[in-house]
Amino acid sequence: MNIQKVGVLGCGLMGSGIAQVAATAGFGVTVLEVEQKLLDKGFAGIEKSLAKLAEKGTLKESPEAVRARLKGTTKPADLADCDIIIEAIIENVAQKKEMYAGLDGIVKKDTIFASNTSSISITELMTATKRPERFIGLHFFNPVPLMKLVEVVRTIATASDVYETAYDFAKKLGKVPVRASDKSGFIVNRLLVPYLLDAIRAYEEGVGSIEDIDNAMKLGCGYPMGPFTLLDFVGLDTTDERARIFRLHCVQQLRHTIPRDDQQHLSPGAPTQAR
Ligand SMILES: NC(=O)c1ccc[n+]([C@@H]2O[C@H](COP(=O)([O-])OP(=O)(O)OC[C@H]3O[C@@H](n4cnc5c(N)ncnc54)[C@H](O)[C@@H]3O)[C@@H](O)[C@H]2O)c1
Repeated sequence: MNIQKVGVLGCGLMGSGIAQVAATAGFGVTVLEVEQKLLDKGFAGIEKSLAKLAEKGTLKESPEAVRARLKGTTKPADLADCDIIIEAIIENVAQKKEMYAGLDGIVKKDTIFASNTSSISITELMTATKRPERFIGLHFFNPVPLMKLVEVVRTIATASDVYETAYDFAKKLGKVPVRASDKSGFIVNRLLVPYLLDAIRAYEEGVGSIEDIDNAMKLGCGYPMGPFTLLDFVGLDTTDERARIFRLHCVQQLRHTIPRDDQQHLSPGAPTQAR
């Protein structure tokens, strides 16, 4: 399948970034929002970002040429001719499902549905549609125009050709795609969230001050920023919500458990040589 026309749902922080990179890569993009004033706000942000990139010399065309490929709408029917729809509305299962169910009857039969969700199961979202085999996760990172990674997430129902089309599409956007399966947190948040939570616990236990923990991870591990600075960027509310979803999916004990599958040998009284 040849993707030409891209639909983006939501023109907030992530949706506007995704729309911007898709238009920059040459795709025609239609962005759906609930109100015109939210579209105006999102597009103003895109224009500012494009102007900055042009100033830095990293844009191949004029900002106006990129902007001309972007359209905004408040009517779902205007997405009818899109080849791929990337959803980036608020992190709410019911609202996302309602959105997909409505669009399922509007768009073409072979249109691919993608979600940018950070923590909701792609499998659960796909059940709102009659196209489970054409449903994937495309998880971008903030700020989208600058962050290179996209996690391309497949469910057990995703058709291989759909998955490869989405993977290639992410490359065409100038991103580096990684393959992930539909497990809580995918790759990045699966590893990152416990690390951020551990940083808070380390501080609470008096292991070090916030500044020292940040410096330790920056200078000792070569991370670009420490966990507390990163927590400020991600937001404590977002981290808390992601941690809640991890707990729901039964990986809550993983962080402090030795990663081996013969845990019975670790029970009290088990012979030492069995370890
Ligand atoms: N913020 C991040 O760092 C980040 C990173 C990766 C993924 N995500 C995911 O991206 C998604 C969006 O996050 P965000 O930070 O951009 O949120 P946001 O609140 O900035 O933007 C969401 C936008 O969706 C719009 N919206 C809500 N319902 C809508 C509907 N029915 N139709 C059209 N538009 C609708 C809202 O008006 C709002 O402008 C979430 O699923 C989130 O988990 C966020």
